[in-house]
Amino acid sequence: MQGVTIVDHPLVQHKITILRDKETSTRSFRGLLREIATLLCYEVTRDLPLEDVEIETPVATMRGKQLAGKKLVFAPILRAGMGLLDGMLELVPSARVAHIGLYRDPRTLKAVEYYFKAPSDVAERLVIVIDPMLATGHTAVAAIDRLKEYGVRHIRFVCVLAAPEGVDVVRGHHPDVEIWTAAIDERLNDHSYIVPGLGDAGDRIYGTK
Ligand code: URA
Repeated sequence: MQGVTIVDHPLVQHKITILRDKETSTRSFRGLLREIATLLCYEVTRDLPLEDVEIETPVATMRGKQLAGKKLVFAPILRAGMGLLDGMLELVPSARVAHIGLYRDPRTLKAVEYYFKAPSDVAERLVIVIDPMLATGHTAVAAIDRLKEYGVRHIRFVCVLAAPEGVDVVRGHHPDVEIWTAAIDERLNDHSYIVPGLGDAGDRIYGTK
């Protein structure tokens, strides 16, 4: 699938199987999600531009590499996206964070925004939108629309599980936005849950069901 990277690393696949299991506790779910986030972060940042920097080791002077340009931004979609944030920040501790509050109207299944707070210079940065589940794609599209309204030009999307329908919707609306996911599942059910999926990610992270 063009523009979609499936992170099929054995550690990721192993952890996702435990994540999917309905018997997995809230505590384990949260910990696993955090670990998976770190591994996904490693992949989504694989091609970040580098620049040369001269340093002195205790032995000699050398040219090393460092990340070039402005610090990147992680943009969790509330609330489930928060479950991925700490794992990503572990790998990129100086990243900035933009919070995007969207919920799915249960009647129309469309995304409704209730909160948006991003760094003032967000337009000059690479923004990585994070949400464990890419289901209908409506929420992801709404979040990306909003970032683009703020002038953001470089956006990537990271999720743990995606439905084929959601991938098509995001890529259809925003062909410039590439997606990193650990798996693409079969389909959505009548309630727009991913099948086989893992249930409601927010509920499983926060133990609200
Ligand atoms: N959101 C979830 O948390 N789970 C799904 O299966 C779909 C959307």
